[in-house]
Amino acid sequence: MTERTDAVRPRRVRDGVGFFRRFLASPGSVGAVLPSSRYLARALVGRLDTLQPGELVVEYGPGTGPATAVIRDLLPPGVRYLGIELDPSFHELLVRRFPTMDFHHGSAADIVDILAERGLPAPTRILSGLPFASLPSDVQTAVVDGIVGSLRPDDGEFRTFQYVHAYGLKAARRFRLLMRERFATFERVGPIVRNVPPAFVLRYSHPRRDEA
Ligand SMILES: C[S@@+](CC[C@H](N)C(=O)[O-])C[C@H]1O[C@@H](n2cnc3c(N)ncnc32)[C@H](O)[C@@H]1O
Repeated sequence: MTERTDAVRPRRVRDGVGFFRRFLASPGSVGAVLPSSRYLARALVGRLDTLQPGELVVEYGPGTGPATAVIRDLLPPGVRYLGIELDPSFHELLVRRFPTMDFHHGSAADIVDILAERGLPAPTRILSGLPFASLPSDVQTAVVDGIVGSLRPDDGEFRTFQYVHAYGLKAARRFRLLMRERFATFERVGPIVRNVPPAFVLRYSHPRRDEA
């Protein structure tokens, strides 16, 4: 495929092709064949208008940035953002595409250290695109520990999505079990059908820090 052909394709198609290539390179950590639709991205992000200046929104696994674009458009003035992306190509693309936003190249499992190094506060929201249904259990556990160890205790909320077809998989159930043990409040929204494939949005709040 020539550079010229790439340049005349709409961004959505270019992102789809690039995303699929990254999936072929790292199927487990990319965990999807296409980026999320704007409908799923909006459902994942929800409302951000209650956040106050100085508060922090963290996004896990932004990929090509469908949810990042929604966050950018909804983020109230003074509210901070940090995206954490493991894949170097996605990280590079995000830095180019969203020049006013901050991105860390690394693993969401290291959130406690990443926030400390950057002098950032406990996040009010963690919005995740991580493919928990295809992550190894040690990574899953480390990410869950990091969420519980970093989220604001009283009003912090973690949101993620899980594909309907993968909802019953052992790794997906394991993740939800871990989260139910560590959070007092859980809500499932959807399925969001205007996404390939359809997905549920999962919301968790009131982390039980004492069990961390
Ligand atoms: C299912 S894709 C979702 C991408 C994007 N959020 C979307 O909805 O289209 C999963 C993303 O998580 C990233 N990822 C996987 N493991 C990660 C980790 N431990 N820390 C940070 N990002 C990770 C992948 O590189 C990929 O960008």
